[in-house]
Amino acid sequence: MPDAVAALSIKGLRKVYRGGFTAVPGLDLELPDGSFFGLLGPNGAGKTTLIASVCNIVRPTAGQLTVFGHDHRSREARRLIGLAEQDINVDRFLSVRQQLIYHCGYHGTGRRAAVRRADEMLALFGLEAKADGRAYELSGGMQRRLILARALSHQPRLLILDEPTAGVDVELRSEIWRLLKGLNAAGTTILLTTHYLDEAETLCDEIALIRAGRIVDRGSAASLRDRYEARDITEVYERVITTEAAP
Ligand SMILES: Nc1ncnc2c1ncn2[C@@H]1O[C@H](COP(=O)(O)OP(=O)(O)OP(=O)(O)O)[C@@H](O)[C@H]1O
Ligand SMILES: [Mg+2]
Repeated sequence: MPDAVAALSIKGLRKVYRGGFTAVPGLDLELPDGSFFGLLGPNGAGKTTLIASVCNIVRPTAGQLTVFGHDHRSREARRLIGLAEQDINVDRFLSVRQQLIYHCGYHGTGRRAAVRRADEMLALFGLEAKADGRAYELSGGMQRRLILARALSHQPRLLILDEPTAGVDVELRSEIWRLLKGLNAAGTTILLTTHYLDEAETLCDEIALIRAGRIVDRGSAASLRDRYEARDITEVYERVITTEAAP
């Protein structure tokens, strides 16, 4: 039987920013369909660069990137991905509901289905009371909910979340965890970055540690704990990232 198509395949990704800084020197990564994958690493490690390359926000200097077998620049790949960026990029002057409807429309959902889907997302994320307000009227945590709702609204098969729980309260964090577990159980592949190591340990079936644009190790939480004789992923992280980076 042929190998199942990976949800995301990255081969030889290299990103040199204008000005000559090499953020990612050459990186390979494969996410199996259905996985819940955590990407951990310090500030500036290249996590957002990797994600932005997959999602055509930055243009890779080199590399082959495919999403369920489709070139990442193709319309099909774009439709298969849902992205919640690290920077909260809401349209400040559209209403909350309109943003969700437009987003679905952009991905080819018909008007009536888009309205229905927007209302489902508003209910799921507890944003109904704010549906007709403008995004700038939302609190920071509510804006975070909105970008998650938007990322999910066209029912992507690969959900990419760049620090989705940064700055959210304890209650919302556990709601997001529950939601993500449910989505993953129903078949959505998830790529998550986070600085909350316990979050990765709780949610992810596989974790990659990235430093200076290189994957330094990867495996399940259990296999990483064993390999580094660590009690938890925080200890693994300390050994792999903090200690090895020390002069
Ligand atoms: N547009 C840009 N031009 C030049 N350098 C950039 C640009 N964007 C990012 N970089 C650099 O690339 C490196 C990786 O940045 P990136 O945002 O990918 O890190 P990150 O792992 O997402 O970090 P964080 O945890 O802080 O979000 C950093 O050194 C950063 O300064
Ligand atoms: Mg980042």
